[in-house]
Amino acid sequence: MLNEKIVSLLNDQINKELFSAYLYLDMSNYYYDEGLDGFGNWFKVQAQEERDHAMLIMQYMQNNGKKISLGEIKAPNTTYSNHKIPLDESLKHEQYITESIHNIYDSAYNTKDYRTMQFLDWFVMEQGEEEKNSEELIRKYELFGTDSKGLYMLNSELAARVYTAPSLVLE
Ligand code: FEO
Repeated sequence: MLNEKIVSLLNDQINKELFSAYLYLDMSNYYYDEGLDGFGNWFKVQAQEERDHAMLIMQYMQNNGKKISLGEIKAPNTTYSNHKIPLDESLKHEQYITESIHNIYDSAYNTKDYRTMQFLDWFVMEQGEEEKNSEELIRKYELFGTDSKGLYMLNSELAARVYTAPSLVLE
């Protein structure tokens, strides 16, 4: 059912989601190194969600009898000169991922691949959530993060984030 262009785009998306997980783990490690364990936790949970996204796409491809070819995941290779940079970078990254999901959606739409469109609906919604979360975090940091007491409180709030499995379940 799935055409080869969609298969190739989904396959690339798996790599992008796994790279997202890798990038967020890198940011998580940066914050742990800086003594901001709450920020570290927030990004660690984010990385777990990204791995889930990759797993869901793999499951979808397998359910449709398509072969998966896992590519190399590039190293994040980043150094951050202040605490706000990873927050800005992660928003930029989410915007890039949104564009990528929309691009697959466009191809599915153009080829009347309703099954893939329906599958991607969840990802379109999820990307809206992720961009909103990133924007909120930047806003909170701008409001409170530059003051040491505020940063302490924000760090404690972020330490409370717990991983929850995705609401989309594929059999
Ligand atoms: Fe899976 Fe944050 O995009």
